[in-house]
Amino acid sequence: MRVQIFAALVAQAALSPCLALIAPSKSEVSTPAALCNTPSNRACWISGFDINTDWETSVPNTGVTRTYTFTLSEVDKYVGPDGQVKEKAMLINSQTQVLTGWIVLDWGDRINITVVNDLRANGTSFHWHGIRQLNNNINDGVNGVTECPIPPNGGTKIYSFLATQYGSSWYHSHYALQIANGLTGSILINGPASLPYDIDLGVLPISDWYYGSADNIFARVNDPAKPFIPGVPGSPPPSDNILFNGTNINPTGPGGSYARILLTPGKRHRLRLINPSVDNTFTVSIVGHSMTVIANDFVPVDAFTTSHLYLSVGQRYDVTIDASQPVDNYWINVTFSGTGACGSSKNPHPAAILSYAGAGSTNPTNTGRPPPESLCADQTDFVPIVTRAVPKELFTAAPSDSLAVTLDVDSKSSNVFWKVNGSSMEVIWEKPTLEFIAQNNNSYPANENTITIPDNSNYSIWLVENGSPIPHPMHLHGHDFMILGRSVAPTNPLSPSATPVVFEIATDASSLEFDNPPRRDATVLPSFGWLVIAFQNDNPGAWLFHCHIAWHLSQGLSVQFLEQVNKVPQVMDLNEIEPNCDAWRSYAPANPFGGLDSGLRRI
Ligand SMILES: *[C@@H]1O[C@H](CO)[C@@H](O)[C@H](O)[C@H]1NC(C)=O
Ligand SMILES: *[C@@H]1O[C@H](CO)[C@@H](O)[C@H](O)[C@H]1NC(C)=O
Ligand SMILES: *[C@@H]1O[C@H](CO)[C@@H](O)[C@H](O)[C@H]1NC(C)=O
Ligand SMILES: *[C@@H]1O[C@H](CO)[C@@H](O)[C@H](O)[C@H]1NC(C)=O
Ligand SMILES: *[C@@H]1O[C@H](CO)[C@@H](O)[C@H](O)[C@H]1NC(C)=O
Ligand SMILES: *[C@@H]1O[C@H](CO)[C@@H](O)[C@H](O)[C@H]1NC(C)=O
Ligand SMILES: *[C@@H]1O[C@H](CO)[C@@H](O)[C@H](O)[C@H]1NC(C)=O
Repeated sequence: MRVQIFAALVAQAALSPCLALIAPSKSEVSTPAALCNTPSNRACWISGFDINTDWETSVPNTGVTRTYTFTLSEVDKYVGPDGQVKEKAMLINSQTQVLTGWIVLDWGDRINITVVNDLRANGTSFHWHGIRQLNNNINDGVNGVTECPIPPNGGTKIYSFLATQYGSSWYHSHYALQIANGLTGSILINGPASLPYDIDLGVLPISDWYYGSADNIFARVNDPAKPFIPGVPGSPPPSDNILFNGTNINPTGPGGSYARILLTPGKRHRLRLINPSVDNTFTVSIVGHSMTVIANDFVPVDAFTTSHLYLSVGQRYDVTIDASQPVDNYWINVTFSGTGACGSSKNPHPAAILSYAGAGSTNPTNTGRPPPESLCADQTDFVPIVTRAVPKELFTAAPSDSLAVTLDVDSKSSNVFWKVNGSSMEVIWEKPTLEFIAQNNNSYPANENTITIPDNSNYSIWLVENGSPIPHPMHLHGHDFMILGRSVAPTNPLSPSATPVVFEIATDASSLEFDNPPRRDATVLPSFGWLVIAFQNDNPGAWLFHCHIAWHLSQGLSVQFLEQVNKVPQVMDLNEIEPNCDAWRSYAPANPFGGLDSGLRRI
């Protein structure tokens, strides 16, 4: 059976006026009255809150709750935005281009999102990428960890959380490969910015797109005998297309159209680049224009101007673009690493159009010059505006603080699995981790790859090592992490002579940065290399740390950090997960799932 895919869409709110921030607030909170955020001073937000405010300790309380309803449905033989038929799409509110839709909040708002699962035979759960969810792990949306799946045929859940951060992000289903069926969309949270700008263009999600069925592609990725990259078991397929804001031309024939991003001549624009891909990572550049980065993920950074940006899966860059060139149309290009190690596409030149008002609707003529080769590694020159430092003495590089990522083939099933420190994560959908905590049984099944973090509020520092040539875009739930350092990416990881570079405490430790290193929620673990991250143990719950390549997550490349578990029952109401767990437990036995995949592997 080929299950086919497309992206759905939630376009509910237009950019919310910032004035919503001064909407009536609860009487007991003192919401400052005047919005001071203006085109010439974006650093200001409202009295008492600006770009220098540490949102981990101080967040405005607007008293506003915004409500959305996502009703999921399933459609066969869906004609995608590039004119190609897909056998199956999963939609949000009957809309087919979730990639163009976004939810919009102001910093300090609450959002309540009701998810209604009208899919035919799949559970679901929704994760809000990068949202801290302080004391709110229960709304993190990971089936098997923080909740049971929401059952199909009308199952519902209301997710409720505060916009403690501001900037740009996305949301997606965390169930099976639904992320590749289109259940994703963007999040925009209004707040201060480190540079003045005139116009906010909103979000530009740039995403890979597959015509083949997720299940069939996944079966092939799982087959060690037929890897997509010869000699590299577990390697992913090329995407069929790359969509910009949910659309593109069909690279092989008629159909579709380029996305057009409209600029007003003479003005400075803010654009929010988001990579919500299943697998592909790439470099974005614009012919004739540079981009000035003001935030990476949800972290505002010192303004930094560049000709190109590398986006791995899950990453975001908020940039400003000056419309200072002659009125015309210009290509926005996506290029891939020539090594093929971090994704590739059958569309040889994925592109959208930056179009100045008055330039007309022709295609650009200047093809520009390709940006430098990315080597599948993040740019690292980003300096967070709100500074933090990690005590150097906490770094030991002890084996107990190390996680080794390896690839393995299961001899019984002949399937490829990823392992972290020797085991591949499988979760029990019927019995999520939070339920174990609710029942105060501090023993968790070993196959869930749980790691209990010492019960203090120190930084936790992890050395992560990659024994494979494929780089992994790693994402941590519930925290921004600091990137203390990483190995230099090899120029040709796929060469047969490439071998893992092991962290050497004598030489490599001195290269680590402890004083305000880059901070974000997704970064690349280099091919055959290492990465050192740190985050604070201050958010009670079970938080996933995983590779954001959907195929790899389904193949087990994940751990769950159990953080301050003793406090979990005090800071959230664990009974809230029971209604859906009961509903799922009555649905699941009569509807057994026999496939390979699970998003998080399932037992
Ligand atoms: C939003 O959800 C919270 C938590 O469930 C609830 O207390 C509140 O009443 C809801 N608000 C609205 C407007 O739905
Ligand atoms: C999801 O639903 C499709 C049918 O629409 C089915 O083929 C697939 O096995 C289901 N997957 C899971 C994990 O439930
Ligand atoms: C993306 O598409 C939506 C819907 O067509 C549009 O409203 C929005 O302005 C587009 N985004 C950008 C950055 O142009
Ligand atoms: C940008 O995209 C256009 C359209 O696909 C293509 O002709 C051009 O060569 C690309 N330029 C670069 C630098 O990738
Ligand atoms: C990872 O494996 C090593 C070697 O077996 C072990 O010493 C270490 O404690 C493990 N790390 C964790 C976090 O379990
Ligand atoms: C609690 O832990 C024990 C020991 O590992 C196990 O046998 C038991 O099944 C667990 N209880 C529950 C309710 O999960
Ligand atoms: C960690 O936290 C504990 C308790 O807060 C403190 O006593 C200790 O010095 C900290 N540092 C280390 C390395 O554990």
